[in-house]
Amino acid sequence: MAAPSFGDKSYWDTRFAKNPSPFDWLLPATATPFLSSIQSSLSTSPSPQILHIGCGTSSLSSNLKNFVEDPKDIFNIDFSSIAVEAGRSKDGTMNWKTLDLLSAEQILEFRNFGEAGEGGWVGLIVDKSTADAIACAEDVVVELPYVIAAEAVKGRCQTTAKVHPLAILSVHMAYLTAPGAKWLLLSYSTSRCSFLTSQNPDDRIVKEETLEQGFTDPRLLWKVIDEEALSAREEVSGTGDVVARPVVKHTLYTLERTDFKINAR
Ligand SMILES: C[S@@+](CC[C@H](N)C(=O)[O-])C[C@H]1O[C@@H](n2cnc3c(N)ncnc32)[C@H](O)[C@@H]1O
Repeated sequence: MAAPSFGDKSYWDTRFAKNPSPFDWLLPATATPFLSSIQSSLSTSPSPQILHIGCGTSSLSSNLKNFVEDPKDIFNIDFSSIAVEAGRSKDGTMNWKTLDLLSAEQILEFRNFGEAGEGGWVGLIVDKSTADAIACAEDVVVELPYVIAAEAVKGRCQTTAKVHPLAILSVHMAYLTAPGAKWLLLSYSTSRCSFLTSQNPDDRIVKEETLEQGFTDPRLLWKVIDEEALSAREEVSGTGDVVARPVVKHTLYTLERTDFKINAR
């Protein structure tokens, strides 16, 4: 049987239609180390607005309310309208939005939602296994120079290229955030952010040629400032005997937005 495609909207719509009950990937929404990181990232963030990307039916949406004065500072986003409507019907005090994070058109429109100064208006991105799902999507065919890019690309020749979905996500998230904003990215993979950190040319996800043609290098936009291994669950004991299970660890990456400017062209 073919593996499910976690980057496909139809996969998620079918899954949420079958079971709209709360479900949390990788960690329970109450996991203390994850919540502590949200709190400490918010304390240094340039704005109180939280973007919860790929919220699905995670209970984290309601837990985020503990960290804001106004629930309207929380934007729960998913491309599955089934998940978004299920969330909105439970708690309309927060913002809920059906949005494809890989669509430049939808991101451009979404940025107008808040009051953006020089940078974007989002202070913290919370991402619980959404970059994992997006990493499974097909490369995106885009026009270059890309519609969201640095000033310097103006005047370059028009062409098209296929770009890795994580590179598109990085540019879109950078466009919505102010310098100093954080992106808390929880992943099952210990190499999810190697495209930002590795010196090995094999880990690059955007070709040199594509960068020259007007796509912004994600490494100019985001710096990985922390990497922490989190246990997937607390130790479990059975009827007197300790149940031996392998310890599963996930990785919580903290990314910080640089002050490299990108604009809509
Ligand atoms: C692995 S689930 C994680 C759900 C939730 N964050 C959690 O921790 O339980 C990935 C989520 O990302 C959403 N998703 C995948 N690709 C997306 C895209 N391009 N735009 C918006 N949401 C997307 C899926 O619908 C799904 O809800």
